Amino acid sequence: KTLQMLREKIESGLLPQWVLSDPDMYELELEKIFGRTWQFLAHESELPEPGCFVTRWIVNDPVLVTKTKSGEIKAFLNSCTHRGTHLCAADYGKQKSFTCPYHGWTFNLEGKLIGVALGDKVYGEEMKKEEWDLRPIPKIGVYQGMIFGNLDPDAMPLEDYLGNMKWYFDILLARSDGGMEVKGVPQRWVVQANWKVTSENFEADPYHVQMTHRSAKELGIAPKDPFFPGYGHQVVLENGHGINVITADATGRSPFPFQGMPESMWPMFERNLTSEQLELMRNAIVFVGGVFPNLGFISFSAPPLEGETNIYNYLNFRVWRPLGPDKVEVWSWFTIDKAAPEEYKEKSYLSYLGTFGPSGILEQDDAEIWARIAQASGGLMARDKELSYNNVLNYLMGLDRVEPDETFPGPGVAYPICFLDAVSRNMHKYWLELLIKDHSIAEGVYR
Ligand code: FES
Ligand code: FE
Repeated sequence: KTLQMLREKIESGLLPQWVLSDPDMYELELEKIFGRTWQFLAHESELPEPGCFVTRWIVNDPVLVTKTKSGEIKAFLNSCTHRGTHLCAADYGKQKSFTCPYHGWTFNLEGKLIGVALGDKVYGEEMKKEEWDLRPIPKIGVYQGMIFGNLDPDAMPLEDYLGNMKWYFDILLARSDGGMEVKGVPQRWVVQANWKVTSENFEADPYHVQMTHRSAKELGIAPKDPFFPGYGHQVVLENGHGINVITADATGRSPFPFQGMPESMWPMFERNLTSEQLELMRNAIVFVGGVFPNLGFISFSAPPLEGETNIYNYLNFRVWRPLGPDKVEVWSWFTIDKAAPEEYKEKSYLSYLGTFGPSGILEQDDAEIWARIAQASGGLMARDKELSYNNVLNYLMGLDRVEPDETFPGPGVAYPICFLDAVSRNMHKYWLELLIKDHSIAEGVYR
């Protein structure tokens, strides 16, 4: 009954507010959504040489990502097969093997158990080490340097899952020779929010910018036009993904071509992109979107310092790692074109810090709003599943009013405006589709 009601509401562009705070819903999401979708783990540039490793999370599963001697990327559950503690406690580093801090079992970069402390004396010759190797993450996939893992052994291949997002990823990640590189380590901080709210904020909601980030307009780092950033295209992609290709104004032409990347790099873009991709990149000033369920990204340009007039582009990736129905750990990576001049990279990092880094002005604006959504969604009225208080949220923007723009050069269903809830509605539909997989709505089974 509950899922039936959810479906009816979602199909008419509404979202019952209780799904943002309900603990049972959260548990169901962990299993049906995070246990089955592709989760971003790391960028290849974080593991430049054999022996490099990073430790990450797929929500509650600790993950150890390694680069083996032969240069292959592997990912394991970061839990020793002896008693289960984290095998590796460091965030990143370079090592030939990992020795467990509890009893000293040692595993190599391929996950093989290669040493057992006092092995022969305490287990005897008959111990079969090969039965106690690290447990691999069931699936891993790499696209344009982005490494993903999936806990579902039957998951569709990463490239199928990304679908047409690949076309946009090619612009963002493969426009220059050598691709992108991560600078520094991913920054982490915790916000009070439901993960759906943070995901949606990046993937689907340019509308909030005109109000939440009004100070950015006042500071002159965003166009003053009140309709900004509604200009451009909101693109609905398969499997709940979406992207907003934002332009400066209604002309669709950018005052700073190629997002302010140095002119010396433009011929490189021409070489690496198709003419459609190139056109889009020349004219867009922001790309902001998401890979369902919880990978957000923004390609943004801003002046790095007060008083500086040049703008510097960067690509920020972030994982919204759920820590509960009302808590998210944000993981935020700064990436920049490997081929960009060193000085540009440094300025670009400052531009990131001032805008979407943990101390950036655009970041702080959002965090407060999200916390208040979490608070308001936890009360008795918003939490009511019978919807007696009309506790549904409005996702009606553009519904049955805006038609797709057939002339848009990129794949997906592109609407000629970014103030739109089309991507949100798509996210909700896919979210529900995953939740009800293997459930019988007819029987009214919720858990
Ligand atoms: Fe790792 Fe005992 S838990 S060696
Ligand atoms: Fe925002």
